[in-house]
Amino acid sequence: MLPDLGAELERRIVDAVHAALDVEITPEQAVIRPSAPGRAADYQCNAAMPLAKRLGRPSREIADAIAAHLDTTGLIADVAGPGFVNLTFTEEFLAAHLAALAADDRLGVPEQAPLRVVIDYSSPNMAKEMHVGHLRSTIIGDALVRLHEELGHEVIRQNHLGDWGTPFGKLVEHLVDEGLTSGELSIGDLNEFYVQASRKFDADPDFAERARKRVVALQAGDPATLDLWRRLLEESKRHMEAVYALLGVRLTPADYMGESACNDVLGSTCDELVAKGLAMPSEGALCVFPRGFTGREGAPVPLIIRKRDGGYNYDTTDLATIRYRSQDLKGDLLLYVVGAPQALHFKMIFAAAREAEWLAPTSTATHVAFGSVLGSDGKVLGSRKGAGLKLADLLQEAVTRAAAIVADRSELSADEQAEIARAVGIGAVKYADLSTAREKDYVFDWDRMMSMDGNTATYLQYAHARIRSLIRKAADSGAGDGSANLLLAEPAERALALKLSQYPAAVTAAARFAEPHRLCTHLFETATAFSTFYETCPVLTAGDAVRASRLALSTHTARVIRHGLALLGIQAPERL
Ligand code: ARG
Repeated sequence: MLPDLGAELERRIVDAVHAALDVEITPEQAVIRPSAPGRAADYQCNAAMPLAKRLGRPSREIADAIAAHLDTTGLIADVAGPGFVNLTFTEEFLAAHLAALAADDRLGVPEQAPLRVVIDYSSPNMAKEMHVGHLRSTIIGDALVRLHEELGHEVIRQNHLGDWGTPFGKLVEHLVDEGLTSGELSIGDLNEFYVQASRKFDADPDFAERARKRVVALQAGDPATLDLWRRLLEESKRHMEAVYALLGVRLTPADYMGESACNDVLGSTCDELVAKGLAMPSEGALCVFPRGFTGREGAPVPLIIRKRDGGYNYDTTDLATIRYRSQDLKGDLLLYVVGAPQALHFKMIFAAAREAEWLAPTSTATHVAFGSVLGSDGKVLGSRKGAGLKLADLLQEAVTRAAAIVADRSELSADEQAEIARAVGIGAVKYADLSTAREKDYVFDWDRMMSMDGNTATYLQYAHARIRSLIRKAADSGAGDGSANLLLAEPAERALALKLSQYPAAVTAAARFAEPHRLCTHLFETATAFSTFYETCPVLTAGDAVRASRLALSTHTARVIRHGLALLGIQAPERL
């Protein structure tokens, strides 16, 4: 496996600390950080400060001792200020390292010890059409799938559809009232249908009563009710799958594992929790009180797993689900890509699952929480009573807007233009979402997300296409596509080379923290470093050796952008 620059430095610092101070530290305790752009050094080691505290010695002295014992092959180390060690690779070392990455199909992205990773994402409630609120889970989840697969993990996708429970009572009953009980079902506007059913539910006590009875019939497995429910679902899935197809996400029906699929094991899940002494009756309901969750006045907060009327709920299905994912699917890492408002729900589910010993001590469950998508008015874009923006319309609009950008490009065929419009439009929507720190809200803004400069997919796609055109031009003039013998004398060449060599670390960090924005930031910085390089370092007009080196840097940059965008589920067209 190709060494990662940061990891290489960690190893050397760990050894130096051992040799200089006779102290064992972990790689993390080497505290290696890439220096800010424009700084004199490539990396900084901040280990001296904490070691100084631990050993009761001045940090400057510790830093000097580390530097004196450091293996400086291909490396320049100097101690700065109160005890930071500045670390800079020699040009030769960096050039050889980058050449090795370029020779690798994976651009140096490591294969990790494989884990089984179960990723819950998209998971819309099926009673309505998907709305923009479902965008984030679908897009972030898809990127996490790609990132983990790239690193060699076995990923199991779980689309935990909200396909069960009370809303279906009123929907089925409304279907009956409308006489839509036979033949091909086609509800023109699912949202409208849902709104009508809800309105009737609120206004008409007789309907409400029938709807409640329907839910009971559904849960009891009444065949006629199940049949109607199934037809509603089919209709709802058609809408959902149209959105998936437009987005180009990798969810297929094989990944659907909705709430309804848990129905048969809800009872046994409750029984098991009772048998383990974790579930107990409370005010007529059956509750689990995971340790450490208290409400006002210190009263323990329950997960209600069987309601007073005997019905099960979201807590029950999620307990059954986590048991299935850890016990049956044998997931080592369980990711739940769900909005931040459900944070407490997942904390409690994970705590209960630990107490039930469903989660192996070595396995991890993580709520990959995300913020809201806001409109220009700062309010959450959502399906407010079904009137909100529909996802399918929104994505169509993205493609239409992108088409306008390439419409005047007569050198492109109509097919090519359509391809590009799709890549640019969908890419812009995805990237706007992925490039924001996940837990923050972000404002949905067409102009900003399709801007040609700034941290956007459009900018990266343009950068990529421009480099590809440069490389084609070079090939036409017989200049070849670069050499492995890199020359990094110019600061802009060196800065670009350093960025390119940090790509594998950006990929692993994005996966490890489930934060695709780390990869976005890295790709943006790479494209920016390229642009500075391209402004200051002529490529095609340079002498043979320099031209070959600069072409190699350009080729590597295009590969990194393309590879990185692909991991985010975004295409990089050859021309733009
Ligand atoms: N259907 C839920 C919603 O739209 C999200 C489900 C997330 N997954 C889970 N295992 N609870 O809010």
